[in-house]
Amino acid sequence: MALPKVTVVGAGQVGATAAFLMAVKGLADVVLVDVAAGIPQGKALDMMHSRSVERFAGTVVGTNEYELTAGSEVVVITAGLPRKPGMTRDDLLAANASIVRSVVTQLVQYSPDAVIVCVTNPLDVMTYLAWKVSGLPAARVLGMGGVLDSARFAYFIAEATGEPIADIEALVIGAHGDAMVPLPRLSTVAGRPLPEVLDEAAVAEVVRRTVFGGAEVVSLLGSGSAFYAPAASVTAMVEAILHDSGAVMPSCVYLEGQYGLDDVYVSVPASLGRGGVRDVPEYGLTEDELADVQRSARGVSESVAVVVQGG
Ligand code: LAC
Repeated sequence: MALPKVTVVGAGQVGATAAFLMAVKGLADVVLVDVAAGIPQGKALDMMHSRSVERFAGTVVGTNEYELTAGSEVVVITAGLPRKPGMTRDDLLAANASIVRSVVTQLVQYSPDAVIVCVTNPLDVMTYLAWKVSGLPAARVLGMGGVLDSARFAYFIAEATGEPIADIEALVIGAHGDAMVPLPRLSTVAGRPLPEVLDEAAVAEVVRRTVFGGAEVVSLLGSGSAFYAPAASVTAMVEAILHDSGAVMPSCVYLEGQYGLDDVYVSVPASLGRGGVRDVPEYGLTEDELADVQRSARGVSESVAVVVQGG
């Protein structure tokens, strides 16, 4: 059976790891694109060398050109500069905006029917920019933020409670940045809301570790930023899209009135399928939670005003 084609732009740590996960999971034939001569080709060849060991059906091809990406069902954009220690995701704004503009223009030329999943930071702004530049319906352009932030929240909850990771459901919404909004009330340990399992101080500490989880990795690595969890997170989204599963994941999606937000991209729970975003079911939030999400989104809109509308 022919596999769908997925393009991953950016053969750095996140892109290459995501390409490998998608191949090993048998999700797709993957095209790995990067401007650096030899890097996508070398990494793709290395992955293909593992094929008889991992026994995956699909292929991974590396290229510096967009021709081979033609007809992709999903394209994942990881191209851009990563954070250095001490940098916020917003420090990457101008440099990555010009990269995303150029990448999206070339991608849609060859794959006008694709769903675009943006991973490049600052995530919410780059996703908005990708949508604008692509000219595609908003449902077909989304970003990977909330899945990663929620995965980190789940990890820290499991650590703090000593409960198995499989029993944890965790939800983080809002911008993928310091203003992200972990929702303890809607996160559960074996079905019990987190505030019933941990005291207030412990919940606050888990929230703090979650918000700075990415920065903690950046400062430990010294060079580059996280890639295993980001790659796993975007792979899960691509799987939901390709399999048309309807899975609800906290995804960076275009909002048109939900949660009192309009004309902005931030992460909220969204149902994913073949056409991208199927539905954005609106969760009941408390006034405080809603205010936090709206504040988080305001920061995104301010950057969008500078980079997209001003540029
Ligand atoms: C992080 C980067 C990928 O959160 O945004 O680690």
